[in-house]
Amino acid sequence: MKFHITKKEIQALLDWYQKEKRDLPWRHTTDPYRIWISEIMLQQTRVEKVKKYYERFILELPTIEDLAKVKEDHLLKLWEGLGYYSRARNLKKCALEIVQKNLKTFPETKEELMKLPGIGLYTAGAILSIAYHKCIPAIDGNVLRILSRIEEDPRDLLNEKVKNEYLIHLEKLMEPSYARDFTEAFIELGALVCLPNGTPVCQKCPFQQICQSFQNQTMLKYPHKKVKNARRKEEKTIYVLEYNEKYCIQKRKKSGLLSGLYELPNVDSFMTKEMLNTFLQTKKEQIEKIQELGKFHHVFSHIEWEMTVYLVHLKSPNHHKFYSKKEIETTYSLPTAFQKIFIKLK
Ligand code: ADE
Repeated sequence: MKFHITKKEIQALLDWYQKEKRDLPWRHTTDPYRIWISEIMLQQTRVEKVKKYYERFILELPTIEDLAKVKEDHLLKLWEGLGYYSRARNLKKCALEIVQKNLKTFPETKEELMKLPGIGLYTAGAILSIAYHKCIPAIDGNVLRILSRIEEDPRDLLNEKVKNEYLIHLEKLMEPSYARDFTEAFIELGALVCLPNGTPVCQKCPFQQICQSFQNQTMLKYPHKKVKNARRKEEKTIYVLEYNEKYCIQKRKKSGLLSGLYELPNVDSFMTKEMLNTFLQTKKEQIEKIQELGKFHHVFSHIEWEMTVYLVHLKSPNHHKFYSKKEIETTYSLPTAFQKIFIKLK
């Protein structure tokens, strides 16, 4: 395939980036540890949200040795609300591996980096280009969107062969002196100009002259989308157990969705207040009162939860462990699906 981007267009992109770039906390460092943390956080989460999490994380765990030593519950608390918690677990695994192998810091080749937990082609490229000034591109969905529009490329861009073609071409356009800005500039263009939803801001785009889809006004047709599977809908009944102004939370199973995090007690079906009352009596709970808190909804990547929520005041603690609101807020990682409910409790 003949590509339209040459070094001339890259210079225009870098000039545009110098003028337009956002001031983001991870753009003030070349520490590979910090670049890595920011890239992992940014994989599934918006920049504005990541900023706060990133700054707190770096303040509490400033080095890879600190991360390797951190207790799982503390790590998950720092991650609470970011979602995709396997990212946090992989961070720790990766830090442990680097420290235990006495590597001191991240390796400087794509092959070595990609052997580490949670580091794929994109993250390896980001660390190598941003922290080490290596000519290895970081191609994520945002970069592929820009490229598919420039080339009016109808192919499936997640296909490894297709991605590889772009990788090889971009690599030829990179120089160590601007490897970092090259990566950041593509990210920035995807975030500020070549937008995924809504109309791209083509009048500001440094690639306008060569962009095939701009010439033909077909921007919104690219990238070609595969039809996504619909999310599975699940009904749940959440029953918040309260005793003496403290609440029961429990650890989730070690596998599956939100594994190992904390949860509010729940069952996998819809229950009326009367059904719940009967169910709790079979569990020997001493119920004072059950209050309906209404419906709550939460969307994960592949599943949606429709939650019917009750607050159950107990007369005795039974065998449960109860925690104050403050303890739960400061110490235990309660995923957003449950936080939504928890913050509504008086
Ligand atoms: N998304 C992924 N990586 C990013 C970065 N370094 N800056 C801003 N947004 C990003």
